Amino acid sequence: MTTVNESLSATDRALIEAHREEARVLAEWLVCAASGLNRSELLIHGDCELGFAALARLGEWTKRVASGEPLQYVLGSTSFFGREFLCDRRALIPRPETEELCDRVLSDSAIWRDAAPSVMDVGTGTGCIAITLVLEHPNARVIAVDCSVEALNLARENARRLGAESRIEWRRADLLAGVPPNSLCAIVSNPPYVSESELAALAPEVRDYEPHLALAAGADGLSVIRRLAQQAGVALAPGGKLWVEIGNEQGPAVCDLLRAQGFFRRDRASRFGGA
Ligand SMILES: C[S@@+](CC[C@H](N)C(=O)[O-])C[C@H]1O[C@@H](n2cnc3c(N)ncnc32)[C@H](O)[C@@H]1O
Repeated sequence: MTTVNESLSATDRALIEAHREEARVLAEWLVCAASGLNRSELLIHGDCELGFAALARLGEWTKRVASGEPLQYVLGSTSFFGREFLCDRRALIPRPETEELCDRVLSDSAIWRDAAPSVMDVGTGTGCIAITLVLEHPNARVIAVDCSVEALNLARENARRLGAESRIEWRRADLLAGVPPNSLCAIVSNPPYVSESELAALAPEVRDYEPHLALAAGADGLSVIRRLAQQAGVALAPGGKLWVEIGNEQGPAVCDLLRAQGFFRRDRASRFGGA
């Protein structure tokens, strides 16, 4: 017989031995998922026995996490903006900073004044931005673009499960290719922005498991943002906005790129950049 508490200790020990950071937190998530208990029930039901199937699941998942695989890929889902998104190696794991990006876009009343603003999510991955925007805003219709068919398939699956399908158009494209000039009210993007040297130094669970297509952006980390800024300058309608997630140190360089495309200049078609 193995109790919840014993499983928790054994999982914690295995992950410490494998040098996983925050081993205890990972162990709690794994035992919760294997047993079907939530975090508070874990404390109350510590003496309960874990069944054979739960122990088998826990053993398999612990091995994968111990070998470096991200918890979210092992469990197959993650929470984003209060909703559960399927997540696997076809796309980047949604991050909390991207929830902040969604929050900022949703709070910008100027975008949503229009009855049906044309919004594009560039590099949709799991679909977390596009799906959140349409589920949080009744006016939102989003065109979600990715160059990866695998990511688009996963995003579609998430939209179907979360009931967001009818207001999202999916498009496989290279950034804004094919978008007519002056046609979009807002572009939202969490593009790849990791430089070659940063990529090599990333934590192994990111570098070795998450798609490089979602991370890598050339020698300076700006190769995708640079093209996006150029194309956005053409695709946005006057007064349209560009919201881009960028790396911590990239603010000044990205502002220069955007300024060169006419963003921030009210006298030139009132385009502004958001980041
Ligand atoms: C950093 S991930 C963001 C995923 C998701 N939006 C999120 O915030 O979790 C970047 C995404 O951009 C896609 N991507 C990379 N280069 C692209 C390109 N040239 N055109 C379209 N999508 C691209 C990748 O496949 C990946 O899904």
